[in-house]
Amino acid sequence: MADGLGLALALLALALVGSRGARSEPELRFKPAPRQRPVRLFTESELARYAGQEEDQPIYIAVKGVVFDVTSGKEFYGKGAPYNALVGKDSTRGIAKMSLDPEDLTHDTAGLTEEELQSLDETFNNVYKAKYPIVGYTAQRILNEDGSPNPNFKPEDQPHFTIKDEF
Ligand code: HEM
Repeated sequence: MADGLGLALALLALALVGSRGARSEPELRFKPAPRQRPVRLFTESELARYAGQEEDQPIYIAVKGVVFDVTSGKEFYGKGAPYNALVGKDSTRGIAKMSLDPEDLTHDTAGLTEEELQSLDETFNNVYKAKYPIVGYTAQRILNEDGSPNPNFKPEDQPHFTIKDEF
C-alpha cells in the first residue's frame, strides 16, 4: 500500500517535471512599460477635507501645487494650532510672504517680490520637502486652465519618501 503510494507520487513528480520542461516559455516580444507611480490629483474641495478639523483625519497643505502630509506637525497645523489657517488649501502666497492673512492663503504668486519668491523656495525645499511626504498635486498644477492635462507636469523628486498609495 505504502509502496504503491510512493510510486504514484514519484510518477506524478516525473510527469510534472516533464511537462514543465517540454513547455518552453514564449519569448516576450514587447517590453512592458516601466511602472509609473500613480499621482493623486486634489481639487480644492477635496483638499479642504484635510484641514485638521477632525482628530483622526490626516492634515494636508499644498505649497506650489504640491500636496504634503503635515500630520506629523500637528502642533503647528492641527485644530487650534498657530498655522492651522494654512492647511486644507494651497497656501503658497502666505508661505512666501510669511502671512496668515486670509487674502494670502492662495496659490496665486502674482506680484510677489524676488525676495518673497526666494523665501518661498527655501521653505518649500528646506521645510516641506525635507520634513513631509508628498501625497499628490493640486488640479492647478496638473491640468491646464481648460482642464486638459498639462504635458509639462513633472512630479517632484523626493528621494527619501515614497508617494503614499492612498487612492
Ligand atoms: C510672531 C511671529 C512668529 C513666530 C515667533 C514664529 C515662530 C516660529 C518657530 C519658532 C518655528 C519653528 C518651529 C520648529 O521648527 O520647531 C516656526 C515655523 C514655521 N512658521 Fe512661524 N512664527 C511666526 C509667524 C509666522 C507666520 C506669520 C507664518 C505664516 C506663514 C509662519 C509660518 C511658519 C511655518 C510654515 C513654519 C514651519 C512649520 C513646520 O515645520 O512645518 N510663521 N515659526
